[in-house]
Amino acid sequence: MTRFSEKIQTLTRLFLPTAAELTAIAEQFKQEMTAGLGGKGSLKMLRSYLSKPTGQEKGQYITIDFGGTNIRLQLVELLGSGNTRIKVQRSFPLKEPAGFYDYTSSLANAEDLFDFIASQLGELLEDNRPYLLGHTFSFPSEQLTANRAVLLSWTKEIKTAGMEGQEITSLLEAALIRKNLHQVKPTAIINDTTGTLLTAAYRYPQASIGSICGTGHNTCYLEPQEPSTGEPMIINLESGNFHGIPLTPYDIALDQASEKPGQQLLEKAVAGQYLGELARLILLDLWDQPQLLPPYSLKTQDLATFLGDHSKQFTVISSWLQQNCPELKPSQDNCAALRMVAELVTTRSAKLVAATYAGVLKHMDPELNRQHFIAVDGSLFEKMPSYQEHIKQSLVDILGEKVARISLGLVKDGSGTGAAIAAASCGA
Ligand code: GLC
Repeated sequence: MTRFSEKIQTLTRLFLPTAAELTAIAEQFKQEMTAGLGGKGSLKMLRSYLSKPTGQEKGQYITIDFGGTNIRLQLVELLGSGNTRIKVQRSFPLKEPAGFYDYTSSLANAEDLFDFIASQLGELLEDNRPYLLGHTFSFPSEQLTANRAVLLSWTKEIKTAGMEGQEITSLLEAALIRKNLHQVKPTAIINDTTGTLLTAAYRYPQASIGSICGTGHNTCYLEPQEPSTGEPMIINLESGNFHGIPLTPYDIALDQASEKPGQQLLEKAVAGQYLGELARLILLDLWDQPQLLPPYSLKTQDLATFLGDHSKQFTVISSWLQQNCPELKPSQDNCAALRMVAELVTTRSAKLVAATYAGVLKHMDPELNRQHFIAVDGSLFEKMPSYQEHIKQSLVDILGEKVARISLGLVKDGSGTGAAIAAASCGA
């Protein structure tokens, strides 16, 4: 066996957890949930002050989707009986590609950011009619009520100054006043996982888990009896911060070089923001060429492209190598390594995510007596080849035949529609 194929074998052992290992991770995740509800451990278990919708909420609502480097504004109509319609939509980057502005950098502050959002909102509104607004703010936030939330810490490498520790709705309200948008009333603030669960539950009553597998990763679920109220409540796990997974030397190197070392360890192993970088670190080690590709130059979309190349000659992969890495020969071995590493990091991501879903299911319904629908949004889940199949297979490996009671599917636009549903529930 060559040194190269030995290395590949070691990587496979390192990256692909067995069914028994996944089952143990699921069990530990379940225990962390119990600890988190008591304020301990790595899962923040943040209250939403929202339960499932009835499906009969109606009306038109303005929504803001703030989840990363883009903002999306929508006018959403809820029609009842599970039907919804997006009437108007505008998206814009918070970080201008040519570098004219960047509201996600530490040089921008909360006022700059919210003034920018409010002026974009002003351009969307065509009249002075009063509107209730639902805001999807997809960062770990301690909810004080369904409409007030304090940002605990930035994730996904965002750095805007003066926002951590601040109550976000007040910042938005102040900007709306500065921009003379007195007719807009913020009414609910939610996480994107909550938005996904609300959107799914508006249509399917058995929806009990909402999750995002995109740039970031996180999950929420319907807690049957939230300890402080004794009532059903959607809880945002902030599961990206789960610390119970085995870390490889590559995970550790990625974490050390990240904006917040020691935090969001699951997210750094599974989410789109990081998978390309993780693959890059493995490849540089495999090729023994530490200077080859600059940090974060290999994107998670590139991994999807590699996985989509089924040609014998690796046509797509070798032309990627020629363009992005002219120093390296686009040999069969090198192309195969790219494909292999893409497979390893994306498969591990799906397996770990599945283990956390199994943990949530075991917490909610230990014997799995009920039907559950897991609603997932995000580009990784939607577009990465074989990702959904790996999640499903791992759920079978962990849950056995009871998996027949579980369904899993893509629910898109939860950040817009879900915010409208939340605004409707709170504004009623
Ligand atoms: C990050 C955020 C979390 C969000 C997730 C998906 O993990 O901390 O709040 O739900 O990304 O966008």
